[in-house]
Amino acid sequence: MKIETLRWTNNKLEMIDQRILPASFKYLSYDSAASIAEGIRSMVVRGAPAIGVAAAYGVALEALRQQASAEFNAGMEAGFKVLATSRPTAVNLFWALQRMREVWQGVATQAPQQVAQRLLAEAQEIHAEDIRINKAMGAFGAELLPDGARVLTHCNAGALATAGWGTALGVFRSVVEAGKKISVIADETRPFLQGARLTAWEMVQENIPVTLITDNMAGHLMAHDEIDAVVVGTDRVAANGDVANKIGTYMVAVLAQRHHIPFYVACPLSTIDMNIASSADIPIEERSPDEVKGFRDCHWAAEGVQIRNPAFDVTPAELVSALITEKGVIHRPDRDKLRALFG
Ligand code: MRU
Repeated sequence: MKIETLRWTNNKLEMIDQRILPASFKYLSYDSAASIAEGIRSMVVRGAPAIGVAAAYGVALEALRQQASAEFNAGMEAGFKVLATSRPTAVNLFWALQRMREVWQGVATQAPQQVAQRLLAEAQEIHAEDIRINKAMGAFGAELLPDGARVLTHCNAGALATAGWGTALGVFRSVVEAGKKISVIADETRPFLQGARLTAWEMVQENIPVTLITDNMAGHLMAHDEIDAVVVGTDRVAANGDVANKIGTYMVAVLAQRHHIPFYVACPLSTIDMNIASSADIPIEERSPDEVKGFRDCHWAAEGVQIRNPAFDVTPAELVSALITEKGVIHRPDRDKLRALFG
């Protein structure tokens, strides 16, 4: 089954509602920048590349919505602003908005109808490009994993987190495509359960063997020689190679180093933020305490307890064995290697 996380239908963007997977599979429809921003904020769509693609469509939808308005430019600026404040950590959001702004600036003297069509074409190109990039990364990543590898992943960096195929899960798909065997160990990924709900679902759809564990079991499995490699995605990589990803990734990276297990990060160039020198400047989103208290209507935490809910953490570059990009594999990433990558 091909997973279409986002699809353009009847001049609207439809997105799979990832909050209710795997119990229900349903598309929700979007027609403005503000509605897309709400879809990103509430995690209907999530995962760095998918957020970027959704934001690009948000800009195009706003242009289509405003094309007959005398206040076209002001309406567009408001659209950019609401999208930029939807979530702070994944740099793909800001990357996509900047790319859409540059396209807009390039055609700003044309009629709004033409501007809107140009922006829609760009959003569709970002969408198609993301799938091509994932497949290129997948092919490079597949070479790193031996036949029969047992690979741990954290969160969901799959088709659902991108326009399709996936970054970390794209590597797994490419391993299978290359005729090799793989089995996946999926961390549950508290508190939003992207591993249990989304990664497990994607791998089951794909017939890739997958075993679910709770986040605190990874060390035990590593100590018992049940994990050969770790592959995760990322929301933002700083210019020195520090990696921000879903909360709990840092713990996995420390454990992997302790057990001499390679720790790979699948990372499109759009996720590398060369404007940020190190992870110290990566904004870490703090989400609602409700996500930690329980899940949906079931609350198990004691009433009155204080709760922290940072949604991401940072893995220092020194713990990263390699970044898998669409341009190739960067072993032991550092400032010089990343600078060279951008030419
Ligand atoms: O909070 P989320 O679900 O948006 O977090 C997603 C992740 O942390 C992913 O690992 C990351 O975005 C890479 S997705 C290819």
